Amino acid sequence: MTQDELKQAVAQAAADYVAKHAPAGSIIGVGTGSTANFFIDALAPLKTQYRGAVASSEATKKRLEGHGITVFDLNEVEHIPVYVDGADEIDAGLNMIKGGGGALTREKIVAAVATTFVCIADGSKLVDTMGKFPLPVEVIPMARAHVARELVKLGGRPQERAGFITDNGNLILDVHGLSITDPKGLEAQINQITGVLTNGLFAVRPANVLLLGTSEGVKTIL
Ligand code: 5RP
Repeated sequence: MTQDELKQAVAQAAADYVAKHAPAGSIIGVGTGSTANFFIDALAPLKTQYRGAVASSEATKKRLEGHGITVFDLNEVEHIPVYVDGADEIDAGLNMIKGGGGALTREKIVAAVATTFVCIADGSKLVDTMGKFPLPVEVIPMARAHVARELVKLGGRPQERAGFITDNGNLILDVHGLSITDPKGLEAQINQITGVLTNGLFAVRPANVLLLGTSEGVKTIL
């Protein structure tokens, strides 16, 4: 199976999960990226069962609306039973690196409100130790150089993502060379640097369920 076929399979499994676990009439949290896009397409035929969705990026909002799915502002929503999103890396504890698409902050906010985070990923994303994928950090533009110096002190090699501005008007520093043995600790430590909006470690709030696409089928890991 190709990587896209694996992504499509997990996206369909996530739509089935949502149909089973999210009460009729609820609002679904929707992530960002190519796997999340397949999920949006799989959710579309079921749209009459839900009130709508909360989007984690402008791109996701556009795709949802393209399918005729109502998109709510998060401030209007108190309860999101399920949030479905991809990941760049995920470990056995369901900690993740996210933000390859630059939507990490909004993804983290929607995930914080959701009861259940369902991560959808092809098998290549499951790793023993995270850090091979450069860790995205969203930074207020005037703090770029300061934050970069602090990230070097933590052992990383930050590189500004060229020509990229987030939906929040900020920059991304992609931090290379980290071997992340304490995801929760590092997440908190980086978030303490003045000028950081958030970083792409999702360990304080990891996924609850991983739907992993493999050539033997979709595996559910709790
Ligand atoms: C976007 C993300 C994505 O979930 C992550 O980059 C995975 O993307 P894809 O599904 O395209 O592999 O965090 O900010």
